[in-house]
Amino acid sequence: MERQKIKNILLNGETGKQVLVKGWVRTKRGSKNVNFIALNDGSTIHNLQVVADVNNFDETILKEINTGASLSVAGKLEESAGSGQRVELIAETIELLGKADPEKFPIQPKKHSLEFLRENAHLRFRTNTFGAVFRIRHAMAFAIHNYFNEKGFYYLHTPIVTASDAEGAGQMFRVSTLDAKNPPLTKEGEIDYSQDFFGRPTNLTVSGQLEGELGALALGEIYTFGPTFRAENSNTTRHLAEFWMIEPEMAFYDLKDNMDLAEDFLKSLIKYALDNCSDDLQFLAGRLKEEEKNKPQEQRSMDLIEKLEFVLNNDFVRITYTEAIDILKNSKTYKKKKFQFPVDWGVDLQSEHERYLVEKHFKRPVILTDYPKDIKAFYMKQNNDGKTVGAMDVLFPQIGEIIGGSQREENLEKLENRMREMNIPVEEMWWYLDTRRFGSVVHSGFGLGFERFILFVTGMGNIRDVIAFPRTPKNAEF
Ligand code: 4AD
Ligand code: MG
Repeated sequence: MERQKIKNILLNGETGKQVLVKGWVRTKRGSKNVNFIALNDGSTIHNLQVVADVNNFDETILKEINTGASLSVAGKLEESAGSGQRVELIAETIELLGKADPEKFPIQPKKHSLEFLRENAHLRFRTNTFGAVFRIRHAMAFAIHNYFNEKGFYYLHTPIVTASDAEGAGQMFRVSTLDAKNPPLTKEGEIDYSQDFFGRPTNLTVSGQLEGELGALALGEIYTFGPTFRAENSNTTRHLAEFWMIEPEMAFYDLKDNMDLAEDFLKSLIKYALDNCSDDLQFLAGRLKEEEKNKPQEQRSMDLIEKLEFVLNNDFVRITYTEAIDILKNSKTYKKKKFQFPVDWGVDLQSEHERYLVEKHFKRPVILTDYPKDIKAFYMKQNNDGKTVGAMDVLFPQIGEIIGGSQREENLEKLENRMREMNIPVEEMWWYLDTRRFGSVVHSGFGLGFERFILFVTGMGNIRDVIAFPRTPKNAEF
């Protein structure tokens, strides 16, 4: 008999039909005569109830059916009276595939803290919460490719190992095969990278954008979707050292076109989640409600599904950085000196400022544009005021910055000047500048932090809980 997925059985299984399922035991309850086994195979958040008449099975097998054990069960589907589901499986044969010692298996059928589950990240997929998170993460990755494919964007695989610093922030992990203890030295006593694997210093990429621009200026519209690495020592619930970023880059788009795409993109992903992940979202919404029970009313967040619908159905606010600074300076929070970080034209906004704008002031997503040039990357389009650049950050409730992007400076001379001012190696970047030498055009792009977006969709509170195996300062277990 061919194995069937539990998801399909619960949706379409016909009573009276013989089926074969395989999965892991979530719980077992029993009376003298029957055992009820909740079996999960990862295809859905719901378990299939397996009913085993104890008289039909070897006692030694029944004893081994503990939480975490794996089974293959064949039997007949029957209408289910008590399980809350349409059908249940009356077991005829049960094969124990793998035991799980109840004294040792860490994931017991009780509430575990997220911290505990992080320490057991290799097994946390076996919980309802992480099953839901990773099914949604998959669905969102699929929806992203689908969205761009339908719009005629090409998926470009930009390199992971690179010799350039795309963001010019110097937060890179070095890639080297030199002997760390005894590296070859130049006459001047510096490390001799000419003897390194690539014959020069190389790093893990912080962004695929620069190579993405090369693609866009020929293919028209491209996107990257890959891992990016940042050696910033930020131990927050929003930062990872290894995260995934989606970076579309579009020829002939100005800043307004860029904002329109970002808003449409985010909304279409949220719609996909609402349309296709409702079981998992409902579970996570319930989980969030439970978690927030103990918080005072005013600190509780909106119901997860309502929040997603709200973002889907409302226009994002679009204002400039300068306008945002005015709003912040006029806020009660500022006047009562309740912001931890300073608010002055020219400072980089902190997450507390971003969240004030989104959660308190506008109560919806905000796109901030035209930031001071000194707090943004070298490649951004220089505005005529000489002070600001055509940047756009999309700010989301609970998250703060979820997208960072800009129109790009397409004028060779202006770009070179800015690079010199910011000590970006102009000669080494000859290949990037060639796009401005040959057939340069207005173009724009942005980067969506995939995990920050998954945080938003799942309502989880810590970025370590939406990536399978998080990499953070002092942590690379698993
Ligand atoms: O704002 P960032 O640094 O922009 C870029 O890298 C541009 N090259 C993007 C582009 O225009 N093509 O990063 C983009 C997004 C942020 O808005 C944030 O969502 C996410 O990437 N991000 C991180 N996510 C998790 N951990 C980190 N350490 C992150 N740093 C940035
Ligand atoms: Mg940014």
